Amino acid sequence: MLAIIGGTGMAQLPCLEISHRKVMRTPYGEPSGPLTFGRIKNNQVVFLARHGYGHIIPPHAVNYRANLWALQSLDLTRVISVASVGGIRDDLVPGAIAIPDQIIDYTHGRKYTYYEGIEKPITHIDFTEPYCPLTRSRLLDAARHAGKKVIDGGVYGATQGPRLETAAEINRFERDGVDMVGMTGMPEAALARELGLCYATIAVVANYAAGRKTSVREIRLEAAHAVLEKAMVEVRNILEYAVELDVD
Ligand code: HPA
Repeated sequence: MLAIIGGTGMAQLPCLEISHRKVMRTPYGEPSGPLTFGRIKNNQVVFLARHGYGHIIPPHAVNYRANLWALQSLDLTRVISVASVGGIRDDLVPGAIAIPDQIIDYTHGRKYTYYEGIEKPITHIDFTEPYCPLTRSRLLDAARHAGKKVIDGGVYGATQGPRLETAAEINRFERDGVDMVGMTGMPEAALARELGLCYATIAVVANYAAGRKTSVREIRLEAAHAVLEKAMVEVRNILEYAVELDVD
C-alpha cells in the first residue's frame, strides 16, 4: 500500500475511490486528520491531508511525528508527499513540478525526532540523501508515463513560516544553493527516515519566491492558488501512474 500526504492545494484526492476513514491515535498525539483508505486504479492507497481536511493546521503546527507514526503503523514502505513551494531557480516557474533531491533545513522549534527521552538510545540516522532514490525514480518514471514534464532534482529549503520570506532571505537561500522554498518539508522527511519509510516529494511551484519576477513587491496568494489548482491535476495524473509502479 502506498501512502500519499497531500499539502496545500491537495486536501483531498478525487481519483481515490474511498473505502473508509480511520481516526488514529499515536504516542505523539493525533495526526492532522483521519487516514483515508481507498484505491486508485485498483491499487491500495492511504491518504492524509497534512493541513487537515479543512486546511486549518499551519505548517509550523502540523504534528509531523503523529502523521508519520500513524502511516508507519500500517506496515507500509513508501510515502509520497505533495508540497507547494516558491520557485527560486530560473526554471522553477509557477506551475512547474519538481522532484527535489536535497534539503536545507531552516526550520526551528518543531518536534523533529522520535529519539528523545531517556528510554530512547541516541541514534544518528544517515541523511546524506534525504529522499529515497528509488521512490524518486519511480515518480520520474510515473511522470514520463503520464506524459508530464517534471524537473529531476533540486534543493528544497524548508522555512519556518507561516509568514513568507523576505527578498533578502531568498537571496541568502539562493547563495546557499536552495532552488525552492516550502514550509513543510522538514521535519517530515527526517522523521520518515527515522521510521525507515521510503519517502520522496512532488514539489509544485505555486509562485515565484519573494522578490523575484511577479513577486517583486508581494506574493499574491490568490494567483498562487489558481496556479496550484491547475498543477494539481497534473500531479494527480502522475500519482495514478506512481501507484501502478509501486510494486515492491
Ligand atoms: N515560500 C515558502 N513556502 C511556500 C511558498 C513560498 O514562497 N510558496 C508555497 N509555499
